[in-house]
Amino acid sequence: MNSKLFLSLLFYTTAISADAFEPLKHLAGITPYFESPPTTPYDPAPPQGCNITRATYLVRHAAIVANDYDYETYIGPFVKKLANTTVDWSKAGNLSFLAKWKSPIKEDDIEQLTQVGVQEATNLGSDVKNRYHGFRNPPKVWSSTAERTTKSASSFIKGLSAGTSPQLVEVNEGKEEGADSLTPYSSCPAYSSSRGSEQSGIYQKIYTAPIIARFNAAAPAFNFTVDDIIGMQELCGYESVINGNVSTPGYAINADSPFCSLDLFTADEWLGFEYSNDLMYWHGIGYGNPISGTIGLPWAKAAANLLLQSNKPDQDLYVSFTHRELPPTVLVALGLFNNSAYTASSDVNTTMPSNEINPNREWISSRILPFLTNIAMERMECNSFNYTEGDYYRVLVNQSPAPLPGCADGPGLSCSGKGFTSYMQQRQNMFGGFSQKCGVKYSNSTDVLGIYGTQVDAVGNGTSTSSGAAASQTSAKGSAAGRTSTSVSMAAGLCLTMAYMLW
Ligand SMILES: *[C@@H]1O[C@H](CO)[C@@H](O)[C@H](O)[C@H]1NC(C)=O
Ligand SMILES: *[C@@H]1O[C@H](CO)[C@@H](O)[C@H](O)[C@H]1NC(C)=O
Ligand SMILES: *[C@@H]1O[C@H](CO)[C@@H](O)[C@H](O)[C@H]1NC(C)=O
Ligand SMILES: *[C@@H]1O[C@H](CO)[C@@H](O)[C@H](O)[C@H]1NC(C)=O
Ligand SMILES: *[C@@H]1O[C@H](CO)[C@@H](O)[C@H](O)[C@H]1NC(C)=O
Ligand SMILES: *[C@@H]1O[C@H](CO)[C@@H](O)[C@H](O)[C@H]1NC(C)=O
Ligand SMILES: *[C@@H]1O[C@H](CO)[C@@H](O)[C@H](O)[C@H]1NC(C)=O
Ligand SMILES: *[C@@H]1O[C@H](CO)[C@@H](O)[C@H](O)[C@H]1NC(C)=O
Ligand SMILES: *[C@@H]1O[C@H](CO)[C@@H](O)[C@H](O)[C@H]1NC(C)=O
Ligand SMILES: *[C@@H]1O[C@H](CO)[C@@H](O)[C@H](O)[C@H]1NC(C)=O
Repeated sequence: MNSKLFLSLLFYTTAISADAFEPLKHLAGITPYFESPPTTPYDPAPPQGCNITRATYLVRHAAIVANDYDYETYIGPFVKKLANTTVDWSKAGNLSFLAKWKSPIKEDDIEQLTQVGVQEATNLGSDVKNRYHGFRNPPKVWSSTAERTTKSASSFIKGLSAGTSPQLVEVNEGKEEGADSLTPYSSCPAYSSSRGSEQSGIYQKIYTAPIIARFNAAAPAFNFTVDDIIGMQELCGYESVINGNVSTPGYAINADSPFCSLDLFTADEWLGFEYSNDLMYWHGIGYGNPISGTIGLPWAKAAANLLLQSNKPDQDLYVSFTHRELPPTVLVALGLFNNSAYTASSDVNTTMPSNEINPNREWISSRILPFLTNIAMERMECNSFNYTEGDYYRVLVNQSPAPLPGCADGPGLSCSGKGFTSYMQQRQNMFGGFSQKCGVKYSNSTDVLGIYGTQVDAVGNGTSTSSGAAASQTSAKGSAAGRTSTSVSMAAGLCLTMAYMLW
C-alpha cells in the first residue's frame, strides 16, 4: 500500500488501540479489508536489487451490506425475534443496548456494496497504481458479472486510472463455463457449497454454549440460540461496514457497532467465531476439500503463465474481481496457508480438529478472505547480491509476501524462473484436469482459463498463443500438458507425478 497511508494507519492503530484485541480483524468472511504485519511480518517492498516488471491480481469484491445466506440464516431471524420479544432489555446488563438498537440492514440492499466498500476498492486502485508506477496503464480489468464484483472493479478503476480508464471486461458466471470464468466452482458439479457446515456446526455449538448461558441468565425470556449468537457476531462486521464513516482516518479498523463491544463478547469468543468459520472454509474451499485445488488451479496457472511468458504480454498488470469462493481455492492450488506444510502430518482432519482450536494453524480465514482480499503474483527483474541476475517470482496476499513452500531460491521470498516453472508444473500435476475431476456433464467444457488470451494447458514458456481451437479443449485433450514447457519442468513433473501417486 501507499506508504503515507500505511504510516498513518500504523500510527492510528498504535496510538488508538495499543494492543487491544480487535474483533474486526477476526470476522472471517465479514472482516473489513486490512493489510497488516500479522499476516506475515515480511516486507512487501521488492527485495534489494529487484524491480517489479509484471503483476497479476485476483480480488474478492469489497464490503457488502449483508450476504444472502448470512441474512436469511442468522441475522434476519434474530432481528425478527428481537422485534417481537417481551424482554425488558434495560435490565439486561451488557445487552441493554438492544432496547434501542435498530437493524441497519435494509432488505433491498442485501448483497450491495457499502460506501466503505466503494471507498476501499478505490483506495486499493490508487495503492496498486502507486506500487507499480512504472507500469503501462492497463487497457482492461476483468470482473465476474454480479453487481458487487463489477462495482468493486469500477471503483478500483477509478482509483487506478490517471488518463484513459481501463475497459471493464465482464466474465459470465454461468454453470457451463468449465474453467473459463472467474467463478469456476459454479461449473464444477463436484463442488458443494454446503461442505464444511457439519464441522463448523460442531464448533459453533461448543463456543456459543457459555455465551448462550450468560445471555439467558441476563434475559431468560429471549431463549438465545446458537444462530442468534452467530447473527449478533456477524452484525458487528456488517454494521461496521454499513455505518463506517469513510472520511474518518482508520475507519476500517474502527468497531462501529455495539455488537463489537468486548463487554458483549470476549476476545476468546471472537476467536471461537473465527475458528468455526475457518473450519467451514477449510472443508468447503480449502485443504479439507479435494476439489479446491482443482478449482483454483486455472487462475493460478493463467496468472503464472502471463508472468512467465518470454514475450511481453499486452498488459503489465492484470486485475480480476470475483467472489469469496475463488481466492481460497487459488491459495490451495498454490500450496499457501497449508497447515501441514513444514510439518510431518498431511492429514487434513487432524490438523483441523472440529472440537478444539488448532492455535498454530496457517488457515485463518480473516487473513485469507476479508472483503477485498487480494492475491498478487509478481515478476521481478533482479540484480541482487549473491543471486544470478534475472527474473524472479513471488506471491503476496493482501500485500504481505507469502512464500511458496519449496520455491525459495531467489532474493527475499522469491523463486527463480526455473524454480517457479517447475513448482507450477507440480501444482498442475496435482490439480490439473478440471473437467474430469469436477465430473462435468456438458460437452463443451475446458480446463483452461482463457479470458486473458493465453489458452494453452501447460505451464511456463511458449504460452502466448491464443488460438480459438484451444478454447474447446476438453480434459482428454488437456492431458497434452507439458508439451510446450521446458524439458526441465517435464522431468521434474514426471518425478512428482510418481511421488503423488505414492501419496
Ligand atoms: C411473537 O411472539 C408471540 C409470543 O411470544 C408468539 O406467539 C408469536 O408467534 C410471535 N410472532 C412471530 C411472528 O414470531
Ligand atoms: C458451453 O455452452 C454453453 C451453452 O451454449 C455456453 O453458455 C457456455 O459458455 C459454453 N462453455 C464454454 C466453456 O465454451
Ligand atoms: C428455546 O429455543 C429452543 C431452540 O430453538 C427450542 O427448542 C425451545 O423450545 C425454546 N424454549 C422456549 C422456552 O421457548
Ligand atoms: C465523518 O468524519 C468526518 C471527519 O472526521 C466528520 O467531519 C464528519 O462529521 C463525519 N460524518 C459522520 C456522518 O459522522
Ligand atoms: C458484562 O458486564 C459486566 C458488568 O459490567 C462486566 O463485568 C463484564 O466483564 C461484561 N462482559 C462480559 C463479556 O460479560
Ligand atoms: C500440504 O502440505 C503437506 C505436507 O507438506 C503436503 O503433503 C500436501 O501435499 C500439501 N497440500 C497441498 C494441497 O499442497
Ligand atoms: C476427513 O473427514 C471427513 C469427514 O468425516 C471424511 O469424509 C474424510 O474421508 C476424512 N479425510 C481423511 C483424509 O481421513
Ligand atoms: C530498476 O529500475 C531502476 C530505475 O528504473 C534502474 O535504474 C535499475 O537498473 C533497475 N534494476 C533492475 C535490476 O532492473
Ligand atoms: C552465493 O553464496 C554462496 C556461498 O558463499 C556461493 O557458493 C554462491 O556461488 C553465491 N552465488 C552467487 C550467484 O553469487
Ligand atoms: C523459452 O523458449 C525459448 C525458445 O524455445 C528459449 O530460447 C528460452 O531460453 C526459453 N526461456 C525459458 C525461461 O525457459
